[in-house]
Amino acid sequence: MTFTPDNELDLFFPPALISEEVKAQLHSSLHIRPLASTDYRRGHLDVLRVLTVTPDPGQAAWETQFHAMRSAPHTYYPLVIVDKASDVIVAVGCVFIERKFLRGLGSVGHIEDIAVDKGQQGKKLGLRVIQALTYISENSGCYKTILNCSDDNIPFYQKCGFEKKENEMAKYK
Ligand code: ACO
Repeated sequence: MTFTPDNELDLFFPPALISEEVKAQLHSSLHIRPLASTDYRRGHLDVLRVLTVTPDPGQAAWETQFHAMRSAPHTYYPLVIVDKASDVIVAVGCVFIERKFLRGLGSVGHIEDIAVDKGQQGKKLGLRVIQALTYISENSGCYKTILNCSDDNIPFYQKCGFEKKENEMAKYK
């Protein structure tokens, strides 16, 4: 597939929300942008499979989920890094903005579902995804940006400027 520029895509959120500084630091063979409504066929789920169990719901159900998430304005900011030569996604991540009653009606950014294609790991793509998501969170007025991760990934997030704080609790159904 040939690379599709932003102006030919139906994007999840305005691309202007992505940090110019992060864009400038990416290799010229790569492009960072919001998730697009046609990204099912660019391997979006294949990259998420690097992170966890990701069954294929089929293109129609994937698109329904895309539109359902986008219908909650100013809430989800999923982004991707695309390899321009193949027009395939090589890294993904999302920040979810949670509005609160406390802290003067403050908001918190939750970074979720970070994954980099196995063949592309160790090239700072994960770092760029986190920097771009943190920029969106901070520009959305969030007083903090948080995430959960395994012990193995603590050094990666420390390199991204995060520090360990409190504990995660979970109850799976
Ligand atoms: N242990 C120690 N250091 C690490 C690790 C690690 N596991 N991973 C990355 N780093 C370091 C790198 O060496 C680099 O350091 P440097 O600046 O000194 O060179 C720095 O962190 C930045 O690394 P990147 O190259 O940006 O890392 P990468 O692109 O490989 O992305 C990621 C890291 C996202 C963890 C990737 O390896 C991945 O997709 N792993 C599988 C899925 C996963 O675990 N995702 C995170 C789940 S947590 C969440 O989603 C909130």
